[in-house]
Amino acid sequence: MRIGILTGGGDAPGLNGVIRAVVRTAHMKFGWEVIGIFDGFEGLLGKTNTKKLAPWNTRGILSRGGTILGTTSRGNPFAFKITERGKQVEKDLSGTAIKNMKKLGIEALIVIGGDGSLNIAHRLAQKGVKVIGVPKTIDNDLRATHITFGFRTAVETATDALDKLHTTAESHHRVIVVEVMGRYAGWIALEAGMAGSADVILIPEIPYDIARVSGKIIERKKACCSSSIVVVSEGARPVGGEMAVLEKDASGYALRFAGIGNTVGEAIRRQTGMDVRVTVLGHVQRGGSPCAYDRILSTRYGVKAVELIAEGKFGHMVSYKPPAVTSVPLEKAIEKLKLVDPDGEVVKAAESIGINFGR
Ligand code: F6P
Repeated sequence: MRIGILTGGGDAPGLNGVIRAVVRTAHMKFGWEVIGIFDGFEGLLGKTNTKKLAPWNTRGILSRGGTILGTTSRGNPFAFKITERGKQVEKDLSGTAIKNMKKLGIEALIVIGGDGSLNIAHRLAQKGVKVIGVPKTIDNDLRATHITFGFRTAVETATDALDKLHTTAESHHRVIVVEVMGRYAGWIALEAGMAGSADVILIPEIPYDIARVSGKIIERKKACCSSSIVVVSEGARPVGGEMAVLEKDASGYALRFAGIGNTVGEAIRRQTGMDVRVTVLGHVQRGGSPCAYDRILSTRYGVKAVELIAEGKFGHMVSYKPPAVTSVPLEKAIEKLKLVDPDGEVVKAAESIGINFGR
């Protein structure tokens, strides 16, 4: 058996842990070969770009962020962007990818990705490719798994930043607005905000009223504290307003956000008269060494992916249903995003200790 493996979409700490576990399980438990495909599905198009992976050349990567295989968010083989006669057009190159897999002798494909890459994996499965999906994203927005690796590391990074911003905010009597990632889901903002003692947390699932946010900051200033920390998820939106999106794909899915942190910061400055600074954490949240939790989870996911191939459970995605790592059909995995419940226990707990959500 020869397995292909690729990483697609935005990187997340833990990708290398999955690759390492797949290679070791395939070699040590089943005696199978593994072919690493570079830069997501792009490595299967045109002049293919692959490399044989073995335990010896994947040694020492568990603690490394990023992906040794490279990745891209724009390499969808079903709608591949190429320039024809000076114009950008989209072409369906999925047939080329499948043909190239056959040429390379790849019998089964492991796709490590978020909702976009898993969608592509599902479409390939419908075309007869033996695919296994592994969920990844710092956003933690996949409904079919309890948690995605990368999320805990991102929350640690954002929490560490909040700890640091508290001391400078206090020293200067400032409001610091911190914009974090998460796309349509507020998980990173919610968890980092709670762990990092934020005073206000704004998430896409709870449209905010900026007057309530400023009210909370003024109330704090009068009562005790001349500084405040406001965590804003990049997808946060005001009541009756839209998300601040800079770029969408053809289906309307947000690819890049427009910096809602600055809008929120400016409004707070106007309404409170206080000195406000904005920090956009950005891709720092995607980098760095995976935390211990993500190293273990990614390893378990990698082992399970190879076991699913052995069981012939193609068209499935590895899924964590505590306490076990199991699997779900790919179509279930991509049907709906996992969002924060605005009236759930975690949000309620945060509100009980005085955190304001702009409502
Ligand atoms: O999905 C992960 C994520 O980091 C989002 O939180 C963020 O909106 C997006 O990817 C950024 O993508 P890019 O790396 O293409 O800028």
